[in-house]
Amino acid sequence: MNLILLGPPGAGKGTQALRLAEARGYVPLSTGDILREAIAEGTDVGRRAKSVMAAGELVSDEVIVELISERLDSLTPDQAFILDGVPRNIAQADAVDSMLAAKGRRLGAVIELRVDDDQLVERVTGRFTCTQCGAGYHDTFRLPRQEGVCDACGGTEFRRRSDDNADALGARLEIYHTQTAPLLDYYRNRGELLSVDGMADADDVARQIEEALDGL
Ligand code: AP5
Repeated sequence: MNLILLGPPGAGKGTQALRLAEARGYVPLSTGDILREAIAEGTDVGRRAKSVMAAGELVSDEVIVELISERLDSLTPDQAFILDGVPRNIAQADAVDSMLAAKGRRLGAVIELRVDDDQLVERVTGRFTCTQCGAGYHDTFRLPRQEGVCDACGGTEFRRRSDDNADALGARLEIYHTQTAPLLDYYRNRGELLSVDGMADADDVARQIEEALDGL
């Protein structure tokens, strides 16, 4: 069953996509990660997306749909996937529907992670990752066991995202509430929305998602 993870910036979409990948073998497809890869590789898409993302604005719908379509084409028909970060507006939701239909794929459920804005600010501004392997950490919630050394690979260099600052986060939250949140009713009206408490700790959120999926 293919899934969408929906929630504001810092809600835990990437965290839970990885949990679901480990627990159920899903392939996580994060538009944010795909765009950051494009920036790191210096591709044409990456060059165009760089300043847009740093400001917390949305990259064009056409670029996003094309990137996701390419990734889906690289999967085998039996590989189930999770869309993390897409759709972000009604136009993208319609485009994803059409794309999946054209590829003979179906959406199984949409999982909403509910988190208050106050907690999002703390989560996003404290986040950092290992430059070498991408393992995620947080100044308050998850520090490496040994200061300055990645638990996963032993790397000693870390980075913070250019859009994880108060100004860009303000823009991202504004876009979430005006453009993305209407998708909750869109999927609820289709009977596809599962909603979980994203304020709980990450293990508990993962357990809630497992229970919701088992209940389908
Ligand atoms: P994207 O990378 O998708 O960013 P986002 O949606 O803002 O989400 P984040 O990655 O910031 O957060 P998350 O929900 O994955 O949370 P995480 O698990 O990391 O997009 C970035 C930009 O790319 C956009 O602004 C836009 O410019 C562009 N873009 C992407 N998709 C697009 C699209 N479809 N259309 C147009 N433009 C697009 O968790 C956050 C932190 O909290 C971590 O430190 C984590 O350890 C911690 N944490 C997680 N869960 C918990 C918990 N339960 N309790 C405590 N801490 C937790």
